[in-house]
Amino acid sequence: MASDLFEVESPDLALATGASLLRGFALAEAIGLLTDVTEVAARAPFRHLITPGGFRMSVAMTNCGAVGWVSDRSGYRYDRADPDTGRRWPPMPASFQRIATASVAAAGFSAYAPDVCLINRYAPGARLSLHQDRNELDDEAPIVSVSLGLPATFLFGGLKRSDRSSRVPLEHGDVVVWGGPARMRFHGVLPIAEGRHPEVGEQRINLTFRTAL
Ligand code: SIN
Ligand code: FE2
Repeated sequence: MASDLFEVESPDLALATGASLLRGFALAEAIGLLTDVTEVAARAPFRHLITPGGFRMSVAMTNCGAVGWVSDRSGYRYDRADPDTGRRWPPMPASFQRIATASVAAAGFSAYAPDVCLINRYAPGARLSLHQDRNELDDEAPIVSVSLGLPATFLFGGLKRSDRSSRVPLEHGDVVVWGGPARMRFHGVLPIAEGRHPEVGEQRINLTFRTAL
């Protein structure tokens, strides 16, 4: 292939063995999910974490569930307390649990008990560079990623950083699930383009469910 990137356009498709794109799967639940994002963020505000290398992430993050993913100069980790408030992270709302469970079932995985939802907020220009989710103990339990608001281009790569990435356009309501043999695939998000979503405004919200403990 001449280009190292290619577009994926078809609905509901397998991105790889163990990885599925469920187009519009969260659309009917979007309003309730967004209301619950606002409630979580009222208790555990969005913040721009500092990477171990000292950079401020362009994506703003918060968490709900038994633990939360955090980063600072000492590294990446899961913490039972929100370092900004010293309190436990807010519990995972029922709407979040429902969409996570339904998504893994639709993608063909068996029972699922995520213990964390990382909530990412992207303003136009924000991006997430290619990475593996590798702070979790179980390296096969699926990750569920729910997209709300402004569209994004998701990069879905291989098991090595240097592997070719697919460019997957993600829109409001789309869900991506990857687990089993696809669980450790590299992934990222290209800079979000300027725009305004009718229900979500000038931002993209992403819910990432994981089994961390
Ligand atoms: C992530 O990898 O944590 C988020 C991916 C996304 O925002 O779609
Ligand atoms: Fe990730």
